[in-house]
Amino acid sequence: MISNNRPVELYDLAPAADDFRAEVLAGFAAPHKSLPCKYFYDEAGSKLFERICGLPEYYPTRTELAILHRDSPAMAALLGPRCLVVEYGSGNTAKTRPLLDHLIEPAAYVPVDISREQLLNTARALARDYPALEIHPVWADFASPLRLPPARQTAARRVVYFPGSTIGNFTPPEARHLMRQTAQLCGSGGALLLGADLKKDPHLLHAAYNDSQGITAAFNLNLLVRINRELGGNFQVDSFWHYAFYNPGEGRVEMYLVSSVEQRVIAAGHQVYFAEGEPICTEYSYKYNLDDLLSIAEPAGFRLRQAWTDERKYFGVFHLAVDS
Ligand code: AVJ
Repeated sequence: MISNNRPVELYDLAPAADDFRAEVLAGFAAPHKSLPCKYFYDEAGSKLFERICGLPEYYPTRTELAILHRDSPAMAALLGPRCLVVEYGSGNTAKTRPLLDHLIEPAAYVPVDISREQLLNTARALARDYPALEIHPVWADFASPLRLPPARQTAARRVVYFPGSTIGNFTPPEARHLMRQTAQLCGSGGALLLGADLKKDPHLLHAAYNDSQGITAAFNLNLLVRINRELGGNFQVDSFWHYAFYNPGEGRVEMYLVSSVEQRVIAAGHQVYFAEGEPICTEYSYKYNLDDLLSIAEPAGFRLRQAWTDERKYFGVFHLAVDS
């Protein structure tokens, strides 16, 4: 018998279907080859990412979780009662639960995700465990302008929750754009709770993206496996090196796949030439300090009200209020 599984209704904003083929071909045709990092997360890639999160060298996930577990009562108090909580991305309910556990009479929880399956799994799991909570999953790309579904309960304010340091994948201009859009969504009285990975000893950053078990390398190389499978590619995956390093001038980790030989590869029906040593840029992961954070948040109309961090200052969670 199916019991206490109340149905969750999906709010479909018809996110533009990703065009993997077009984006791969465009990325290979450019003078500096690149691939969008959003394509890491097929089934195998998502599993590899889960393993990355548990690696001894990869501190962000466990550090953010520790901050959330320690400080979510303070975060919830500052956010105030009867919030409507919009979460950007819905991958990890482990980061949502500490907040939901302490929020005072939340009006509704609105996870937004581009992956329909992920979104429904999250919404159903939380519906089961938070029977009193209104849950309205929205199938959309949080990086494009959002409309919110109608909620039964009236909210005192809107709060956007954006954990996971996904903000790191946005260049500063992109991040500023997202902040402006987010401030608009929150409206006056609203707030953003943002998790960001902080600047630190470059050797620690280097180790986090060059783990000794080679899981990050497999995660990176999986992009080529995916192209082989989905776009009829013939990449020899072992002819590319995983190469990641921290660029302190740009304040970001840069990740590449580097061709170890001169080669021609077929992908999506096109021949692609790689010189010996030629890179494909696959990801930027920006690291923040307080000034960096203010430089994206303040132009959007946010004011920093509080920051929480771990003892080693590896990771930050920021409460940014919309200036009224
Ligand atoms: C999911 C974007 C936060 O930048 O650290 C982990 C992705 N890439 N290892 C990050 C990632 C390589 C991760 N984010």
